Amino acid sequence: MAMVLSISETHPAPPCSIVILGASGDLARRKLLPALYNLEHCGKGMLPAETAIIGFARTQMSAKEFRTSAREAVTTYSRLKVEEECWRKFEDKLYYMGGLDQPDAFKRLGQRLEEIEKARGLPPNRVFYFSIPPEAIRDSIERLHDAGLIRDPRDKYFSRVVVEKPIGHDLPSAIDISNTLRRYLDESQIFRIDHYLGKETVQNLLVLRFANTIFERLWGSRNVSHVQITVAENEGVGTRAGYYDHSGALRDMVQNHMLQVLTMLAMEPPVSLDATPIRESKLNVLRALRPISLEDAPRLTVRARYAAGTLEGKAAAGYMQESGVAPNSKTETYVALKTYVDNWRWSGVPFYLRHGKRLPKRETIIAVQFHHAPKILFNRNANLPPNVLMIRIQPDEGFSFDVMAKRPGLGLAISPVRMNLHYETEFGKDVSPDAYERLLLDVMAGDSTLFPSDHFVHMSWEFIQGILDAWKDDARAPMREYPAGVWGPEDAGRLIRADGYEWLDP
Ligand code: BG6
Repeated sequence: MAMVLSISETHPAPPCSIVILGASGDLARRKLLPALYNLEHCGKGMLPAETAIIGFARTQMSAKEFRTSAREAVTTYSRLKVEEECWRKFEDKLYYMGGLDQPDAFKRLGQRLEEIEKARGLPPNRVFYFSIPPEAIRDSIERLHDAGLIRDPRDKYFSRVVVEKPIGHDLPSAIDISNTLRRYLDESQIFRIDHYLGKETVQNLLVLRFANTIFERLWGSRNVSHVQITVAENEGVGTRAGYYDHSGALRDMVQNHMLQVLTMLAMEPPVSLDATPIRESKLNVLRALRPISLEDAPRLTVRARYAAGTLEGKAAAGYMQESGVAPNSKTETYVALKTYVDNWRWSGVPFYLRHGKRLPKRETIIAVQFHHAPKILFNRNANLPPNVLMIRIQPDEGFSFDVMAKRPGLGLAISPVRMNLHYETEFGKDVSPDAYERLLLDVMAGDSTLFPSDHFVHMSWEFIQGILDAWKDDARAPMREYPAGVWGPEDAGRLIRADGYEWLDP
């Protein structure tokens, strides 16, 4: 019989208005509207009836047109199917306002919010979701403030601002955005989204580590030889070159998602599950992360971009041929690096990170490889593979542990076997909420545990800035190429092989 131990139920959201700035953009269509619909769909009262969702963008359209386009987006991207009764309830919550770029836009927004609140019996709790480019953040915050839409954090009602990554382009611009946010908002009113933290399997890292006794005892240099974090994507840059060509793999994935995963994996047990201790434990990992110096960058980092190749049997264009990529682009679509967490627990354990687009498959995994058995007993004349804990973040969520076992028979043959937890088999299909569902609910509930603090953003940029500086010199860190459909450039293999290891695949 399954035992379900509920540590803390998700709180239903308090009634509020959610204003999506940039509501006609890709993020709103692909992620935000489907996530909000799914919260409605689950039928557990996660979205109170009074809730209002206000699309706010430059484009002029009527509320009816917005509802039609929202339905299209939800039908295409939602995890759960559109059901008529549920859609009607959801649709009733949708409003739209155009002219985001006009001077009086925020004043009009304020008036509209008051009308909507009055009509719906909704308290003036407001969430402003910035689904806009980073360069528009400063202006929008100032205009929200000038229109009187930011409440005092001690007020009975709340105003919260959600900002999407990328928060900055480098360390100085990240600090600049933080200063702007902090000028007008209290830290408790700022929610920085890193959607990896909303993924079930990333949250499960804490459960795996701190709800079991065995792993924590093994966790560290005494038992672990090294850690690998791989975020592989088979997609290319697609239609996002406008953003991506100014960003690249290091800024787009490592600075945020991958360092978040690394800190969850390496952090010390927090004193409680509250936001502050968890954030503090993660910050301590960043404080111990060994910076990559200019001199070491050629040995410890690899950057590359995909060239034309073949993926899933089809020809795939190279990055330089993608539409919107500058002819003199120096943007990487692949990065591999090696670093250390220089604290007592992890001293001497290398952490290898790799991420790339146009790799053979979409897969995010963490491999924790343990030391080899000593060269005695069964391993005296053999070369037994080490135990590996493989945590599969996506898409095949779960984890496995490779151990050695005796093969049945009269002789003494040993082979590796796999203990495997497969989420879907264990918990059922389609049970994992999308990361944005969880995170939006947390914003409404005011729980910032799964949101990066500004310290985290700055410190992660500090680490990345060292690499960016080293990469300015092409001779020091040459741009490599790999054909679409392979696991990255040769140099990435050399980086890990230099220590006697191989990149692992589940
Ligand atoms: C985004 C990046 O933050 O994460 C994209 O900007 C990337 O380039 C995406 O493709 C990956 O997210 P997921 O959830 O599909 O792993």
